[in-house]
Amino acid sequence: MNDPNNQLSDSDETSDTEVQLNEDSFDGIHQYSRPLPKWWIWGVAACLAFAPPYFWFYHNGTEGRSLADRHDQQLAENLKLQFSQMGELKADRATLIRFTYEDSWLRVGRSIFKTNCVSCHGRDGAGQVGPNLRDDHYKNIRDIADILNVLQNGANAGAMPAWKSKLSTNEIILVSAYVASLRGTSDGSGKPAEGQEIPPWPKADPETASAADSGAAGS
Ligand code: HEC
Repeated sequence: MNDPNNQLSDSDETSDTEVQLNEDSFDGIHQYSRPLPKWWIWGVAACLAFAPPYFWFYHNGTEGRSLADRHDQQLAENLKLQFSQMGELKADRATLIRFTYEDSWLRVGRSIFKTNCVSCHGRDGAGQVGPNLRDDHYKNIRDIADILNVLQNGANAGAMPAWKSKLSTNEIILVSAYVASLRGTSDGSGKPAEGQEIPPWPKADPETASAADSGAAGS
């Protein structure tokens, strides 16, 4: 306002004194044109500056950063805790069948599989050096309980290593359950089937399943 030019050229509209926009008043309230407050402008600028890095950080696809990933991590932590409190399970057929149908535990089985087995059995068990675990054909398995046996003692003179001394009994049960759950997930890709086609796994209820299938357990 101290600038004389300002007063000359800008009649009334850019002066930052109060300019009434129109004559009308509503209940004695007038509408003025005033510049936006500085804090407001800086607020918008700060939001605009913040958004792109934020978006990039959380959504650029880096493993483990998105909300969903962190939720999964915490779920896994929680399951590990439950796992440590579960006590030693019995590595038998009924236990294996029970865990084969428990989705939340299959996640733990999958993480054990990812750490120890993908090098030979491929991602999601589609087969590499080791056979495809997603189809209905198996070399060493006739009954679901044979998975436990193969895991504990290995197969084909150590081509499939024995895990008895490397994994705990609980881990062997959960990873076996995960292997059982892989069956039937084949999308036709992966290693061609090896061995014989075997009858489907018993259903979830171990009582009736073992009564009906005990004759089929080939071991
Ligand atoms: C060093 C490579 C290797 C690793 C590691 C390995 N396997 Fe195997 N696995 C094999 C081979 C090879 C066979 C096939 C054995 C045969 O020819 O009879 C096999 C067979 C199997 C079978 C029986 C499949 C069938 O058709 O009879 C199962 C189940 C199995 N593996 C599960 C696992 C799991 C679970 C892990 C991780 C804890 C694992 N394997 C780790 C190499 C491996």
